[in-house]
Amino acid sequence: MTTPYRILERKRAGERLSVEEVRQVVKGATDGSWADAQLGAFLMAAAIRGLGPQETRVLTQAMLESGDLWELRNDIADLGDKHSTGGVGDKVSLVLSPILAACGRPVAMLTGRGLGHTGGTTDKLESIPGLDLALDRESCLRTVTETGMAIGMATTDVAPADRKLYSLRDVTATIDSLPLITASILSKKLATGAAGVAFDIKTGSGAFIPEPARAHELASMLVRTAEALGTPTTALVTDMSQPLGRWVGHAAEVKETLECLEGDGPADLMEITFALCREVGSLVGRPLGEGELEAAVASGRAREVFDRWAAAQGAESGWERVIDQALAPEEVVLTVPSAGYLSAVDTKEVGLLLAEAGGGRQRPTDTIDHQVSLRVLARLGDELVAGQELGRLYLRRNDDDLAARLLGCFHISDQPVEPPPLIRPV
Ligand code: URA
Repeated sequence: MTTPYRILERKRAGERLSVEEVRQVVKGATDGSWADAQLGAFLMAAAIRGLGPQETRVLTQAMLESGDLWELRNDIADLGDKHSTGGVGDKVSLVLSPILAACGRPVAMLTGRGLGHTGGTTDKLESIPGLDLALDRESCLRTVTETGMAIGMATTDVAPADRKLYSLRDVTATIDSLPLITASILSKKLATGAAGVAFDIKTGSGAFIPEPARAHELASMLVRTAEALGTPTTALVTDMSQPLGRWVGHAAEVKETLECLEGDGPADLMEITFALCREVGSLVGRPLGEGELEAAVASGRAREVFDRWAAAQGAESGWERVIDQALAPEEVVLTVPSAGYLSAVDTKEVGLLLAEAGGGRQRPTDTIDHQVSLRVLARLGDELVAGQELGRLYLRRNDDDLAARLLGCFHISDQPVEPPPLIRPV
């Protein structure tokens, strides 16, 4: 056993750490034997010098093993999972799970809260009255067995080392390191022990990693590391240059999910959802047949699964009525100021402005206004005329300044623009 000082000295010099040394760092984060200053120094050295594939794998495994391992695939051999790096209007998990379940492909997912400008699946689902997201292994397994799906919230017993390291990354400017992101995401995602995980790596103005080349790098690192740890994994890099679908906002996104399950989903959201469904099916050794996903929606089976699942996790009867009427009362119409083509959206800023309006947290203890929402009526590349409705904002109280700043996120050019590809091959 070497000392923290020597490990830090070696990493600072750009040397590769041994398996034992990486494990020592994670042990130090978990049992408190390393001081925050030492952990912060490790994170900074790792962020600057990078971590090799073995260091990343060992870091991930040690962080994963710092907490509970559910190993659900021992009970459900074809259990699938999906993870997104987060975006604005991203409700793919909510649409994908009941569709896969309706096709007989079981899904279990532990989700998180929103970070920064992005909305979290946990927060969105909390707009359903009564829904209980505090699943343990047993209740998760029971819900999947009964309904074909389960969605819960990552508990404090999952990857405690990540909780410590993430909080330090947040204050030491080391969030933006691909090996540290990889270890952080996988240490939580692999804890349920699904038979296969499909990753949705977002790129574009509303993604944590806007540059497509870095998004591809993260995709490769996640797949390589998860596969090395024994979980079949694939990744798609998908567009987040504009909000996904027609709605942004917690309850509004649940309502949009129901529309998708009733066959009225927007094209971009359905294309990404179906593509990820196919990835999950193939990963768990049960590829989906031609038209199978579409039939699950058209027959109403996917919608029925959602209802059964919501009831199994405690949703109060009549929850659909609450979701149906859940828009904040102050309606502001955003109109196109001058004719042209929608050429760019500051999607991150859209997310931040909705959070500022109450739809997100400024401090970790803040409560969220689930009814603050935005309906987006134009897509990148659309030709627009002056005065046309571009979107509609639903606020708790009128705020002309916020509405003007939101309108300023949508850029109009007089030249036709090609929208970016929705799904990029990895
Ligand atoms: N999400 C995580 O869980 N960890 C990261 O580092 C980034 C996104």
